[in-house]
Amino acid sequence: MSDYNGVVKVEFDNGVAWVSLNRPDKRNCMNPTLNTTMHTVLDDLEADDRCGVLVLTGEGEAFSAGMDLKEYFRETEAQGHIAVRRAQRASYGWWRRLRWFEKPTIAMVNGWCFGGAFGPLYACDLAIAADEAQFGLSEINWGILPGGGATKIVTDLVSARDAMYLTLTGDRIDGKRASEIRLVNESVPLAQLRTRVRALADTLLEKNPATLKAAKDAVRRVATMTFDEAEDYLVVRQESLNYLDKTEGAKEGIRQFIDEKTYKPGLAAYKRRGAE
Ligand code: COA
Repeated sequence: MSDYNGVVKVEFDNGVAWVSLNRPDKRNCMNPTLNTTMHTVLDDLEADDRCGVLVLTGEGEAFSAGMDLKEYFRETEAQGHIAVRRAQRASYGWWRRLRWFEKPTIAMVNGWCFGGAFGPLYACDLAIAADEAQFGLSEINWGILPGGGATKIVTDLVSARDAMYLTLTGDRIDGKRASEIRLVNESVPLAQLRTRVRALADTLLEKNPATLKAAKDAVRRVATMTFDEAEDYLVVRQESLNYLDKTEGAKEGIRQFIDEKTYKPGLAAYKRRGAE
């Protein structure tokens, strides 16, 4: 287990880096120390072969209670607008970094998930919640609009009606409802959460990692492109992948199916050389 400044914990287990926001007494709300620390964590994990999939979760009862109202807002605002901009760069920055992380990422939402926590939730490629988790855009309850991208995030992920409802009411929804409105991929009882996330991570670990990075970027990039731009981007991105993937995965995948007949791509992934 690695401890980062007492605010983030990282554990490795068979290809998965379990990253826990670790301020349970403060419901893992994000203060400037946590936000700057996460840059180091992501830098370290991107270069660490023990991390094939990153799972982001929270220690204790919360995934994250959002931004730290005392340290991130009140104390930073007291230092003036330059300090505010610096704090914003640190938080928005690690979420952006996570959105484009070199490896696939899963948000494991174990409990409270409020406001600013939608940033890392959205930044993760996939999200699995506990049925018991509670989500809310609580900003309206304390007098601000959902910033830090949160308003954009809900309009990206859920319907316009649901985005407006969450934004204006500040009402909480549980994991099951979050799954119904597609804020997360699915929800399972809390007791099964880690097992389900482990199984999902194992599915990802079977795939070609270079392809996963190209594919996850493609999903995010094409969302704002015209159809023709997207077609072109996907051709170029695949051709760059052909160059970057020194294992020549696609050729190997065809060979194992057509020549060896050892697997069927419709049913599973090809066996990567050097992989278990
Ligand atoms: N900012 C600063 N401190 C926070 C916090 C936040 N976002 N969320 C929790 N805390 C602190 C509390 O002030 C309390 O500190 P204390 O022990 O020094 O008094 C501690 O964490 C525990 O919180 P508490 O409210 O007692 O826990 P709870 O389990 O009863 O309730 C929540 C949990 C998440 C419902 C509640 O803490 C809450 O509403 N937090 C704010 C959520 C929010 O609006 N976030 C959006 C920010 S953009």
